[in-house]
Amino acid sequence: MKGTANGRDVRPLTLTAAQARKSPRAPIAAAGPEVVEGVVEVVRSHAALKRATDHCRECPIGEHATQSVCGEGPRKAGIMLVGEQPGDQEDLAGKPFVGPAGKLLDRALEQLGIPRAQVFVSNAVKHFKYELRGKRRIHKSPTQREIAACSHWLENEIALVQPALLVALGATAARALLGKAVPVMANRGQILEREDGRKVLITLHPSALLRVLPPDREAAWHDWLHDLSRINPH
Ligand code: URA
Repeated sequence: MKGTANGRDVRPLTLTAAQARKSPRAPIAAAGPEVVEGVVEVVRSHAALKRATDHCRECPIGEHATQSVCGEGPRKAGIMLVGEQPGDQEDLAGKPFVGPAGKLLDRALEQLGIPRAQVFVSNAVKHFKYELRGKRRIHKSPTQREIAACSHWLENEIALVQPALLVALGATAARALLGKAVPVMANRGQILEREDGRKVLITLHPSALLRVLPPDREAAWHDWLHDLSRINPH
């Protein structure tokens, strides 16, 4: 079955029984206890993904964000870097990794001779989650349920980009990409394989580097570059 809903391309996607049980969309799928198929929206272009995620209210985060922030980069890229969720600046700009963490990521890519314009940069969660302190919007980590609710959008994006290598920047991205908790420090610099065969390089989120205090900062930076040096852009 193919069609459009609210002007968006949709087509059926078969969920495994485990996915159907885990998905917050399960009520759509679960007409009965044996139901293992559901209809979730699959979009076929980056523009459609942006429109669909802008309207997404499968979890409460979207309602308070300015807009969704989808990935950016070549439509087909060999490398896809995945962070946690957009921050304050990304939420306003509608672009991933444009704030302090993004600047650090840019520096690392530059040192490794990987032009940012050649990689696709995205996030596990497409909306900014925050709490208000006075007028300041302070980052709040997404819950497992929120990460799970967003995972079909991330998978949709991966299906569009078709990267040879995914890079999980931090624990949220690793969980979203591998479908389970992955201890980042124990696995950093390692390339793990997903059930679909796609490879995932595990490393720290740039925000973690920003929190390292000066005596250890230099070493942390070099260790991070060492992890990221496993990216082969060619
Ligand atoms: N942190 C992230 O994980 N993603 C961004 O886009 C910005 C900060």
